[in-house]
Amino acid sequence: MSKHLLTWTINILLSLAAAEQPSAPKPVAAPMRALPWGDLNFLQTTDSHGWQAGHLQEPQYSADWGDYVSFAERMHEKADSEGVDLLLIDTGDRIEGNGLYDGSNPKGEYFYDIVKEQHIDVICTGNHELYQADAAAREYNLTVPNFKGKYLASNLDYINPATGEQIPMAQRYRMFTTKNRGIRIVAFGFLFNFNGNANNTVVQKVEDTIKEPWFQDAIREDVDLFLVVGHVMLHGPEYKAIYTAIRSQKWDTPIQFFGGHSHIRDYKKYDSNAYGLQGGRYMETIGWMAIEGLGTSKKDEAEDYKELKVRASMSFNRRYIDTNLFGYHYHTGLNETTFPTEHGKNVSYMIRSARKALSLDYAYGCAPRDLWLNRAPYPSNNNILTWLENEVIPEVATNEERRDVPRLAIINSGTMRFDIFKGAFTKDTTYIISPFVSKFLFIKDVPYSSAKGVLALLNNAGPILESESVSSNQLAPPEQLSILKDSTSFLHSLDQVSTSYQTPMVSSRTEKSPDLIPGYTTQDDSGSDGDDTVHEPISFYRVPNCIQSPIAFPAEGDPEKVDVVFVDFIQPWVLTALEYSGAKYTAADVEVYTEESLTELMAKWIKNNWEHDC
Ligand SMILES: *[C@@H]1O[C@H](CO)[C@@H](O)[C@H](O)[C@H]1NC(C)=O
Ligand SMILES: *[C@@H]1O[C@H](CO)[C@@H](O)[C@H](O)[C@H]1NC(C)=O
Ligand SMILES: *[C@@H]1O[C@H](CO)[C@@H](O)[C@H](O)[C@H]1NC(C)=O
Ligand SMILES: *[C@@H]1O[C@H](CO)[C@@H](O)[C@H](O)[C@H]1NC(C)=O
Repeated sequence: MSKHLLTWTINILLSLAAAEQPSAPKPVAAPMRALPWGDLNFLQTTDSHGWQAGHLQEPQYSADWGDYVSFAERMHEKADSEGVDLLLIDTGDRIEGNGLYDGSNPKGEYFYDIVKEQHIDVICTGNHELYQADAAAREYNLTVPNFKGKYLASNLDYINPATGEQIPMAQRYRMFTTKNRGIRIVAFGFLFNFNGNANNTVVQKVEDTIKEPWFQDAIREDVDLFLVVGHVMLHGPEYKAIYTAIRSQKWDTPIQFFGGHSHIRDYKKYDSNAYGLQGGRYMETIGWMAIEGLGTSKKDEAEDYKELKVRASMSFNRRYIDTNLFGYHYHTGLNETTFPTEHGKNVSYMIRSARKALSLDYAYGCAPRDLWLNRAPYPSNNNILTWLENEVIPEVATNEERRDVPRLAIINSGTMRFDIFKGAFTKDTTYIISPFVSKFLFIKDVPYSSAKGVLALLNNAGPILESESVSSNQLAPPEQLSILKDSTSFLHSLDQVSTSYQTPMVSSRTEKSPDLIPGYTTQDDSGSDGDDTVHEPISFYRVPNCIQSPIAFPAEGDPEKVDVVFVDFIQPWVLTALEYSGAKYTAADVEVYTEESLTELMAKWIKNNWEHDC
């Protein structure tokens, strides 16, 4: 059924070009699967988190946003020449996670102008756009107008700071007809049922939104396709509710979902005419979707009956494109001379200039080894959390006045977002591994008998820490979300499900092949041929919700009382866990422990401990 083609494209090896960012590593040739095309095709980005410069330490993901602009323009040319359509989708979490956004004050000084250069057809909001009130305001002030008519906010309102009035963040839905095949589409733009937003936005529960008259009218429209775009996991309850609502009115109109949030490559079949795609994270992946059997054109009408009959059968196909120039050249059939467009090159130049202005390549020091968030087991010498727990936190979780007081310093693993690669540790790296502005808080003089139980509760207690407003699955990195929420979504792709941190959740299924580069080997509802690049599998290990460093403890015996020090994000969970351990405190007992953020403290540690040229 899938039309993939496996080809070694060794001849292209000779014409490999570096990505437009000058320090980006050259992509490596690999066996490829071609893109299936249909009448309607999509390119999707999601959870890009500021990685518009591409991955400067990983060849496989080294193309930048300018290269993606060129890619989209070349794919549009291809679509136009075939008389089919191509739409671009972005499903949110564009910000937080890379110096290109986080490295300026106010944040995003160059970022919004770079992102807007890509012509995205349907775009929506992620939870990260809403944590900080100023980020939500920039979204309303900048991104919504930058994508006027394309930005959809089906269940999100903004509070106008001048009037206090609650208004839609952007239009609720969009109805349009595609250029080449005249496909009639109603598109929505959702956010999952998120409640951690700053108070200048209001997220309406999806289950309530679908009862709204405007939505009920929209799903009764006579269209060829419903396009549901959202910062929503494909396997969560929100898309289930939307799917059921649409199907209650239109039993067989095709529905294409695009999802996000959990950072994984994912594909879900809802029924034979309804599918969902999620294109990973951090500009590692561009999602590709092709729907065959939609729309008509003058050309078809002139063709014979047999041709029309073939069109009547629908098919959905997906691909996960690794973001590098080797793949972009392969998929467009172009080379380093013919591939880039002037516009794409300009955007790469904008990124290069912004990185320079923000001094993102400024090196704080040199990392002596790779430190992995999920690719090395916890605890181990190559795990980033082990490094934090043993080396960094004991040194930086310090308050001069309480320096000698024994303390337990706790951070949640979700504070860490990415790996550290052996080599230069730059200003950019600090934002990449920990983009948050979290500071240390503390509760003083907690009986040790209660304090010592907190970590285990945070990591294992599950239900006692769950409520409408605080869910412990927010503590770990988002990659683990789909494991907790829905065992069929991510884990159906895995050989073993394990609660042990030492057993890989994703393990090498195939024997190692010397010809393949390690990378994504996705299993989804359509099988194992989704990745455009054939990779050797990577092991992926679960990490605990939280880690803890005991500091300034007596050489022998237990202290009677300790300070419980923790990053601000986890305060609600820490208070709940303390209460459960028999020590009741409230927010009024919580004080500031460090003025600097964990990210700033980490940068300082690196300057002190790893300061030398690579
Ligand atoms: C958004 O625009 C309003 C009105 O022009 C302005 O008052 C506000 O400062 C802007 N906010 C941000 C964060 O840019
Ligand atoms: C949101 O919170 C801020 C700071 O706590 C407060 O000053 C502001 O009035 C609140 N805004 C709304 C719309 O509630
Ligand atoms: C790129 O393709 C063009 C057109 O096919 C060809 O003329 C040119 O020699 C190629 N360039 C390289 C560097 O391979
Ligand atoms: C690219 O940048 C140049 C120089 O700023 C400008 O003249 C040109 O119009 C730009 N081209 C495109 C397609 O954006």
